[in-house]
Amino acid sequence: MEHFIKFTLLLSLVFLFNVSLAEEYNTYIIHMDKSTMPDHFTTQHDWYMFTLSTLPAVDGVAPIHLYTYNHVMDGFSAVMSKSQLDEVEKIQGHVATYPETFGQALTTRSSQFLGLRKHSGLWQGGEFGKDMIIGIIDTGIWPESESFNDHGMPPVPARWRGRCETGVEFNSSHCNRKLIGARSFSQGMKKLHLNISTTDDYDSPRDFLGHGTHTSSTAAGNRVRDVDSYGYAKGTATGVAPLAHLAMYKVVFLNDTYDSAASDVLKGMDQAIEDGVDLMSLSLGFFEFPYYKNPIAIGAFAAMEKGIFMACGAGNNGPYGYTILNGAPWITTVGAGTIDRDYAAHLTLGEGVLTITGKSAYPEDLFVSGVPIYYGNGNTSKEKCQYLSLNPEDTAGKIVYCKCDNVSNVEAVIYEMERIQAYGAIFSTDSAQFMRLSYFSSPFVAISLTQGDLVEKYLKASGDSAKVDIKFQITLLGVKPAPQVADFSSRGPSRISPTILKPDILAPGVNILAAWVPNRGRMPIGYGDDMLLTDYAILSGTSMASPHGVGVAALLKAAHHDWSSAAIRSAMMTTADIIDNANGAIIDIITGISGTPLDYGAGQVNPNKAMDPGLVYDVEADDYVNFLCGLNYTSQQIAVITKRSNYSCDKATLDLNYPSFILILEENSNTTSRTFKRVLTNVAESNSVYIAVLLQPNTMKVVVEPMTLTFAGKQSKAEFSVTVDIDLGGFRTEGDYYGDHGYISWYEVNGKHVVRSPIVSAFAA
Ligand SMILES: *[C@@H]1O[C@H](CO)[C@@H](O)[C@H](O)[C@H]1NC(C)=O
Ligand SMILES: *[C@@H]1O[C@H](CO)[C@@H](O)[C@H](O)[C@H]1NC(C)=O
Ligand SMILES: *[C@@H]1O[C@H](CO)[C@@H](O)[C@H](O)[C@H]1NC(C)=O
Ligand SMILES: *[C@@H]1O[C@H](CO)[C@@H](O)[C@H](O)[C@H]1NC(C)=O
Ligand SMILES: *[C@@H]1O[C@H](CO)[C@@H](O)[C@H](O)[C@H]1NC(C)=O
Ligand SMILES: *[C@@H]1O[C@H](CO)[C@@H](O)[C@H](O)[C@H]1NC(C)=O
Ligand SMILES: *[C@@H]1O[C@H](CO)[C@@H](O)[C@H](O)[C@H]1NC(C)=O
Ligand SMILES: *[C@@H]1O[C@H](CO)[C@@H](O)[C@H](O)[C@H]1NC(C)=O
Repeated sequence: MEHFIKFTLLLSLVFLFNVSLAEEYNTYIIHMDKSTMPDHFTTQHDWYMFTLSTLPAVDGVAPIHLYTYNHVMDGFSAVMSKSQLDEVEKIQGHVATYPETFGQALTTRSSQFLGLRKHSGLWQGGEFGKDMIIGIIDTGIWPESESFNDHGMPPVPARWRGRCETGVEFNSSHCNRKLIGARSFSQGMKKLHLNISTTDDYDSPRDFLGHGTHTSSTAAGNRVRDVDSYGYAKGTATGVAPLAHLAMYKVVFLNDTYDSAASDVLKGMDQAIEDGVDLMSLSLGFFEFPYYKNPIAIGAFAAMEKGIFMACGAGNNGPYGYTILNGAPWITTVGAGTIDRDYAAHLTLGEGVLTITGKSAYPEDLFVSGVPIYYGNGNTSKEKCQYLSLNPEDTAGKIVYCKCDNVSNVEAVIYEMERIQAYGAIFSTDSAQFMRLSYFSSPFVAISLTQGDLVEKYLKASGDSAKVDIKFQITLLGVKPAPQVADFSSRGPSRISPTILKPDILAPGVNILAAWVPNRGRMPIGYGDDMLLTDYAILSGTSMASPHGVGVAALLKAAHHDWSSAAIRSAMMTTADIIDNANGAIIDIITGISGTPLDYGAGQVNPNKAMDPGLVYDVEADDYVNFLCGLNYTSQQIAVITKRSNYSCDKATLDLNYPSFILILEENSNTTSRTFKRVLTNVAESNSVYIAVLLQPNTMKVVVEPMTLTFAGKQSKAEFSVTVDIDLGGFRTEGDYYGDHGYISWYEVNGKHVVRSPIVSAFAA
């Protein structure tokens, strides 16, 4: 059971700590105003090094410089005493100081993985993504993985300034035309007294944890054809953008408490900007403090200004409202949904009396044949399979049948199976969809309560002669309905800026098969020390959704070099699917009924449709500055995020030219009203006319002005306003933040484009 317990630890939320080393020495991130740099310094690095060298040693300890930042911010990080920090803060040009903070990988809630060698295409990216460079800020990379071979890859773009650094079991020969950059940033973690050489991790870009290998191969793994397949999936392995180049910036290290330090993450992003990536993906989260305290938000702003597209996982703290991480409006925030593939086992009872397909991910090609079923003398009460309730002598050599209702009960029952070392088990439960794949390290099958009733009927009829055959390793394709919003995916609104709807989109993030590290490619099987080796693994998390988002963005950017990051996001959002593969509204897996834009944003990303959106909602850097003004941030706080001091807040607003609309109702209020201003830009080649079509629930009155927009050719723009009046009446489910939602869609007259945006009402946090 040990591995289950470890997985649980990974579930904990993001942390923020002010870490003390000795009593007084701490790591600080210092924001400076570069325009005040004395003329005799040629670089800001020289300025900071000189400044630090002038500080008096305290107890014989001089300040230790960690990093100079040139892009994500102007400034540096250093380990200093309080009195040394006081001196730094007196220097002209000091803008702000923030103590080191720590974030967590949006790892799979559980690092569940399976013994699969190869994987099939998540979806076909075709020949797109060419010449794009995707920077992944993560746990490193396993360069020998087949997914990072450079067969068929175009040459390294001449504009690339990055490199592959030398470190433990890593040097430049590990890079190729697929993996064109690999760096590692561990100074911040080391100052936490993390001695990497005493852990199993590598002090180099090489991946120990597997997370970065998985996310990288999801975003841009090369096609791996005709792979021999074993177990649950067969076919061709490919990332979303198989011709894109990859650059890894390792900032996450093996530690049981902390995953990554803000100073390292900032440097990873700084280096990625310096090197010239076109897109970045972060499957990491820091506590969602105001943006001026959030290293990812700060780094992402600089990236946005440089035209670098930024995707981040929305967080794994669902299904509760206001749990969004990485919700800054200049980030594309990606939630996680299921895919249409599932893992199963076929049960045959009584030589064909009853055949059932249940859920299982047991990783061996085991065929159970004619094995007796243990049924506790017909006593199917829940208590029957609880801890210490069974006698191993009674169950030896049998498949134990247990009725469990919810998923926590299934977990408890699995403990009992482990204790009695059950040969195998069948669980009847209403919660199979929440069972992690890691639960199936023994020959377990989960079936529905309805199927369970049939099984019980058979068991009662056949008594002691009840027998079962089980065939494992069945992969179900075309599973419906899909996508469904994952239970763990963080839900909107954003706590920091609720006036912008988050998440933006949904992408696959449940049971995603991608490359893995062989050193951890082990799935415990059964109750002994047996491990199944693997070089492809199945993981779940918004960590897996973000690389899908960035991969699609790479395809779009390759097709439309002139699109801004906001335009790319707009194309993804306004063409997203809100209907699943069973032609129903996308379901929230938690409730089993239709989800809402607080769960899935604009919907499930649809790459092919996003290629040709017709119109886009664009946003410029200055608009985001006006937005920060609208948040009432001080000039110092705005300077920390934007490095600007010469802006004006005359146009402060809490709105942006965003492809979605949200209204927040104050506590104890049923009504609210808001007018939004928007500008659409024609990105299609031809002239066009669009008319607004509204889908409004009874609680929502929407007025669009004008209802017809005319575009005179590519890049032509048209303005409109949307006034929304909400009256929710007595409608509010206890503890639910969601109000109601509708859509505004611009339909092209005599054309094929539809540009759809959600309109959502929600209650204040
Ligand atoms: C890189 O390391 C490998 C061993 O892993 C070694 O064979 C090779 O010579 C090294 N290459 C360089 C450029 O140092
Ligand atoms: C880290 O651990 C190694 C191995 O125990 C040791 O040799 C080294 O001195 C340690 N480094 C630091 C900075 O403590
Ligand atoms: C994680 O970091 C903490 C804080 O520095 C340290 O005490 C602990 O030993 C580290 N754990 C591992 C496994 O390295
Ligand atoms: C079933 O098992 C429970 C708990 O062990 C016990 O309380 C109950 O009496 C049993 N019922 C039958 C019909 O044996
Ligand atoms: C799950 O089921 C167990 C046992 O039937 C029960 O004690 C527990 O409260 C249930 N938990 C939830 C979350 O419904
Ligand atoms: C900003 O300050 C103004 C004036 O005090 C206030 O009306 C507004 O609600 C504040 N906005 C936010 C987001 O706090
Ligand atoms: C601020 O300064 C920059 C560089 O000096 C300049 O490009 C920009 O136009 C200025 N912005 C405003 C709002 O004055
Ligand atoms: C909200 O709606 C409920 C039910 O219609 C009503 O009882 C309540 O008075 C309304 N509150 C306000 C502030 O209008």
